[in-house]
Order: sequence, then C-alpha cells, then structure tokens
Amino acid sequence: MNHQTAVVLDLDGQTGQLAARRVRALGVYCEVCAAHLPARELEAKKPIGIICAGTKGRSAATVEAVAGMRVPVFAPDDAFFRAETPEETKANRERLRAFLFDECAAAGDWSIADYRDTAIAQVREQVGDGRVLLALSGGVDSTVVAELLTRAVGGQLSCIFVDHGLLRKNEGDDVEAAFAGKALHFVRVNAAGRFLARLAGVADPERKRKIIGEEFIRVFEEEAKKLGRVDFLAQGTIYPDILESGTGDGAAVKSHHNVGGLPEHVDFRALIEPLSPLFKDEVRALGAALGLPEALVWRQPFPGPGLAVRCLGEVTKAKLDILREADAIFREEIATAGLARSLGQYFAILTDVRSVGVKQNARTYGYTVALRAVYTDDFMTAAWARLPYELLARASGRIVDEADGVGRVVYDITGKPPGTIEWE
Ligand code: XMP
Repeated sequence: MNHQTAVVLDLDGQTGQLAARRVRALGVYCEVCAAHLPARELEAKKPIGIICAGTKGRSAATVEAVAGMRVPVFAPDDAFFRAETPEETKANRERLRAFLFDECAAAGDWSIADYRDTAIAQVREQVGDGRVLLALSGGVDSTVVAELLTRAVGGQLSCIFVDHGLLRKNEGDDVEAAFAGKALHFVRVNAAGRFLARLAGVADPERKRKIIGEEFIRVFEEEAKKLGRVDFLAQGTIYPDILESGTGDGAAVKSHHNVGGLPEHVDFRALIEPLSPLFKDEVRALGAALGLPEALVWRQPFPGPGLAVRCLGEVTKAKLDILREADAIFREEIATAGLARSLGQYFAILTDVRSVGVKQNARTYGYTVALRAVYTDDFMTAAWARLPYELLARASGRIVDEADGVGRVVYDITGKPPGTIEWE
C-alpha cells in the first residue's frame, strides 16, 4: 500500500495498540513492533518516525537501535497514551500531531476509503480468476471481509455461513438478508440440530467449546467439499489477533480463539486476510465505507461458540430460546437509552439457577438471568458498566414479564480481571 509508515515500539507489551490507534486516528499509518525487534528489521520498514509506547521494561538494546536511526523519535511518559480526562487527551493529541506532522513531515495519507480501494484492487490481483472460500460467522470481521471480497471478485466467491443455532435473536436471518441478491455464492447451513445433538448432556464449559469448534469445522468441510476446487481461503483476521499471537510482547495475555481454527481437509493455495493491518474500529469504518448496514457494522463482538457460553450448564433449545428473548430485550433497552456504542459488550446470561417467585398470584420456579455490560478498550481488561438504575429496572421488568421461564434478574458487577467478560 502506498503510504508512509510510522513505527510504534511497544515497550511494555500493552501500550502499543493504544498508541497505534491514536497515530492512525491522525491519518498516519503505523505498525506496532516489539521492543526487541532487531534494528535491521526496524530500518527495513523505512519509518518516518518512531513512537515509544510505555517506558516500563525499556531495554538498552532498543534505546541503542532507535538512537542509531536517523528518524525522529517520540518518547512520552508512561501515562501519555492513557490519559483519561478529555482536556488531557486533547492536549496529548496535539503534541502527537505536532510530532508527526512537523517533525516527521507526515503527509496524513492514511484513510479508510483509500484502504478500501487499494484492498479491493489487491484482492483482485491476488485472486486472478481463482475461487475464494470464506467462512462467514456473522460477526463484524467476517461480514466486512465478505463485502470486500464481493466487491473485488463477487462471482468467484463462496461464503459458507454455518448457523449453529447458537446465534442471537434474528441474527441468522439478518446476516443472510445482508447478502441477498449480491454477486457472491452464499450458502447458509442450518445445522442447529447437529450442534444441539452433540451438546446434549454436556455441561463442562471447555467440552462445550471443543465440541462446537470440532462440529463447526466438520460442517464447514462438508459444505466446502460440495463446492469443488477452491484456490484461496479468506479469513477475517485483524491486527490485534496478529499482535496477540506473538508479534508484540502482549502474547501471553490472551490466547487467540477463533472457532475451530483452519480446516484441515480443504485444499487451498493461499490465505487471504484483507483486514490484517486493521484495528477493530477501522474494520467498522471500512464496513461503513463499503456501505454495509449500521446494525452489522456496529455489532458488538460475539464469541464463536455463541450463546453456548452464555447458557450455563447443558445447552438445550428451550434454554437457548429463553436466553435469546432476555438478551434481545436487554439489547433493545441499551439501544433505546443510547448507550450501545459506548459499551464494549452487553448481553444476557442464562444461569443454571432457578428460584421461587410469584407471578399473577401463582408460585413460579424460573431461571435466573444475569445481565452483563462492560466498558473496555481491548477486551483484555474491562470495567463493569455503571448502568442507570432506571435502565436496569426497565430491562428486569420486561425480561421477567416477556421472557417465559425467567423468574429473577441480577446484574453482574465484576470487572475483568478477576472475572472474564463471558461466564464460561
Ligand atoms: P473473555 O470472556 O475471555 O472474553 O473475557 C474476551 C473477549 O473474547 C470473546 N470471546 C471469544 N471470541 N471465540 C471468540 O471468537 C471464543 O471462543 C471466545 N470466548 C470469548 C468475548 O466475547 C470477549 O469479547
């Protein structure tokens, strides 16, 4: 891609991503490099400037490498990229802007519209007249890849959308509707029965995940086989996935867990990963620039194993239906309150606990639904959201009223750490 590159040196294995997002937000493309990257590799990137992020653990070797290069270096204090008040944030943005545009003579030549056009052209060139296969999960990343590939090589693209029956309310139909009538070959596999049969009687969270991952690959491979020859396999890998699986020093924080990994029995020549340089907010911006509907572009992250990790204990169709209803109500109330975009994730969990209650003068014995809403930048740490009581009251009232089988609603007030965002 034809643009300037700045380098963010991630000195503490945490601040790099944050810094890179700030740099890119100013229209300057940058890459995150680990502190121990050899000077030779650093130079090969021909950076217009180097930004040191996080001073903890700064090694002598890094300082030497950076000092030896004839490019401007910016080494702010630890707190620079983590400023919390708007005024500080603003002042820091101006300092960063001055560094990039005055000292490094940045051209500000990074924009998502340019990225879209270049990526489409590159995919066309790479694919030629080959055939491309994509596993579409319905999440933001794979949906954006599907749209980008449709624009680039629509007629040569097959998307397999495995509906494992663990999606949220109406989600499967929404995904299908987004691609109806477009040039690609879209295959929706309604595999809920298969997944539920394999999950019957299984309560252990890790077993559940494993079964879903395996079954997903199996269904995908069966469908792929029906398509015949495939030249390229496309994936919605994004930049944090790459950073977290080992480029930076943050590798140990979270192991990357996409559903199932790569299929073993689909032959292909090469992988296509058109989102690999992008952060999540840039993927959303790209989705918007590709004209995808807002509801899809702003979809919150959703785990590959779907509602199975939010339906505690054994997963059954009846429990999933209750959960889907409760979750839809909660999400609707969050949207009505105008909080959807400020929250990192918000959803309902169907616990395996039932409790006694009373409804229309009769004793009930319904499930307990837990609501979870978190603020997070990177999903590695999260703070539970201090939602307005009125919103919680409305959601709770409606859930007990409208979701059959729910007797009680609780709100999760645990941060990450020590809790994870999901319950299983
Ligand atoms: P936890 O629960 O570990 O989740 O705090 C961090 C983020 O990852 C998502 N998540 C998953 N995503 N496959 C995925 O693709 C998974 O198995 C999975 N488990 C958790 C979770 O929703 C949150 O955004």
